[in-house]
Amino acid sequence: MLHPGGPAAERIAELWWVMFGIAAVVCVLVIVLALYAVLHRRDDRTDASPHAERRRTRWIVVGGVVFPAVVLTGVFIYTLATLGWLARHGRDAEIVVEVTGWRWWWEVRYLGEPHEQFTTANEIHIPTGRPVRLRLASGDVIHSFWVPQLQGKTDLIPGQTNTLTIQADREGVYRGQCAEFCGLQHAHMAFVVVAQTPGEYAAWVESQRALAREPTEPLARAGHAAFLRNGCVLCHTIRGTTARGRVGPDLTHVGSRLTLAAGTLENTRGNLAGWISDPQAIKPGNLMPHVPLSPEELLGIVTYLESLR
Ligand code: CUA
Repeated sequence: MLHPGGPAAERIAELWWVMFGIAAVVCVLVIVLALYAVLHRRDDRTDASPHAERRRTRWIVVGGVVFPAVVLTGVFIYTLATLGWLARHGRDAEIVVEVTGWRWWWEVRYLGEPHEQFTTANEIHIPTGRPVRLRLASGDVIHSFWVPQLQGKTDLIPGQTNTLTIQADREGVYRGQCAEFCGLQHAHMAFVVVAQTPGEYAAWVESQRALAREPTEPLARAGHAAFLRNGCVLCHTIRGTTARGRVGPDLTHVGSRLTLAAGTLENTRGNLAGWISDPQAIKPGNLMPHVPLSPEELLGIVTYLESLR
């Protein structure tokens, strides 16, 4: 978060540095005064004169009440100003994405006209230099959306929609993480925000809106059939096929994603095969069951899913 990638994170980093500076100065001041008091001990505790009494009281009022009140009020006002700016920033953004937290993955839905909408998972693409409005919801328990390099944390609360604007001014892949303990695999509830040039972003949106490509290669065709006849379809959707499950992530373009299992694994052929063969070994407690598959079926399904780009 101290290496901000966009305007909101810059504000937050700036606030952090100012508060760090103030805290450092106060810390040094307290140490110096404490050392001074120890090294220049004047034993006037027994001095009961009104003058000595007043001096002691003055030190307590100025050092213990007025000084902290002034410093903390300043920091409080600055913090409110920053929060206000963050709340106003990008309110009227054109791109609106609905992010729903599930144990333990992120459903990502690009809103718009019905023909413009599409759903993906654990990966949010944004064009550089433009604010993107996020509508944050939860399907089960409280999660927290956090991309340290782009924005502060915001909770995803069941029965409520919170909003947040992210913007990245330079291209890159920004890692995000669930920041509210939500159960066994909370630590494996990650995602990425991919900031691309507006041209690349438009091409990505175009490819994601498309239906899944019909496989042509024999192995992928066999995998396609195996996917549809096994339990996979009960939980997953592949747009353009009869797979319409809504329990797990939409797999229409799963081959194009960077990670598997919400940032747990890199999306490689080997990891995909390992994940499908035994998801409970990799991410114990997640909702994906072990589906008994023959080696040929597994190979086919992996080939098919990889072809969904
Ligand atoms: Cu979701 Cu922690």
